[in-house]
Amino acid sequence: MAAVRPIRPEEIDDFAGVGNSDPARVQEVKRYVEKMIAVGSMRPEWCFVIEEANRLRGRVAFWTLPKLDKPLDLVLLDIPWDSEDSLSLGKELLQTALEALRGMGVKEVGHVLDTPPLAPQWQTFPTERRELLREMGFRLERETCRFEWKPGIADIPVPAGLSFRSLAEVGNEVFIEAVMRVSEGTLDRRILHDSERLGARGQALELFQDLQQLVYDPHWWQLAYNQDDECIGLVMPAKSPAFATIGYIGVMPEQRGRGYIHQLLGRGTDILLKAGVTPIRADTDVHNEPMANAFRRAGYIQFATRSEYGRNIHIEIPR
Ligand SMILES: CC(C)(COP(=O)(O)OP(=O)(O)OC[C@H]1O[C@@H](n2cnc3c(N)ncnc32)[C@H](O)[C@@H]1OP(=O)(O)O)[C@@H](O)C(=O)NCCC(=O)NCCS
Repeated sequence: MAAVRPIRPEEIDDFAGVGNSDPARVQEVKRYVEKMIAVGSMRPEWCFVIEEANRLRGRVAFWTLPKLDKPLDLVLLDIPWDSEDSLSLGKELLQTALEALRGMGVKEVGHVLDTPPLAPQWQTFPTERRELLREMGFRLERETCRFEWKPGIADIPVPAGLSFRSLAEVGNEVFIEAVMRVSEGTLDRRILHDSERLGARGQALELFQDLQQLVYDPHWWQLAYNQDDECIGLVMPAKSPAFATIGYIGVMPEQRGRGYIHQLLGRGTDILLKAGVTPIRADTDVHNEPMANAFRRAGYIQFATRSEYGRNIHIEIPR
């Protein structure tokens, strides 16, 4: 009989070692868990194991942004993917995890799957992982290209003929209005879906508030103006618990096709470099070709593809 339970604080080493015989990788997971606990993104009681005959056979943990108190995502999901009982073990583990989330009042939970497998999660067996997620009612919401900025690949473009005003200067209302305008006609599936769900203004407000959960200086978030003092777009660099990122970036619909994105991305990258927060990682929808091209041109290298899954906690948990 297998049983699912949260770990005790002294069991972090055992949690890190679940399903992993490579000591270097176990140490990597341990360092990650300890760092996430230290910054407030994870807690020992949010780390679950499935135990059978005194052996830990699988694990999963909840993760959130440090400023929030409820979980956002499942991380470090691992079961013996190549064993015959993997699907039943995975289902049992996730049933308990989803019930715990429901008990905490969580409404939506996400899970991301990166290919190729990356540290510290090393998500091997993507087919088996997708099958388990599907069985447990997770939907594939978006696929993204993941980019990382590498120094020395390209010069950071210096914006010419543009002036910038920061969030600190223009205030939230003007900024949120600009977020709403640049989101129009986006090729990003999540933004489109959120606009349908919440309306254009609601989507902009939610995106703005979500990004406020990251670490940023209000001087980093900037609107760009051309020589006629028309707002042409915006950039919102920020820092997540693990890396710096371009939280949002966009060009006004009437200003697209003039290459402004390169200048805006240059500005955002430069702000993060000057603030000393690297590495810079950023994701864009696989369908957002103009954005992906801009990342490539600015010296960002694509290192993975990410599948973003989501699940409404209130739909029935499959048995
Ligand atoms: C992605 C985006 C920033 C590109 O900005 P841009 O300054 O227009 O980029 P470019 O000038 O390099 O455009 C390259 C080409 O893509 C086209 N293009 C740009 N955005 C487009 C869009 N949303 N839909 C269709 N085509 C688009 C341009 O018209 C141009 O075509 P052309 O070469 O035939 O003239 C802009 O589309 C945008 O603001 N989108 C909404 C917000 C968004 O998706 N942000 C990214 C979140 S990660």
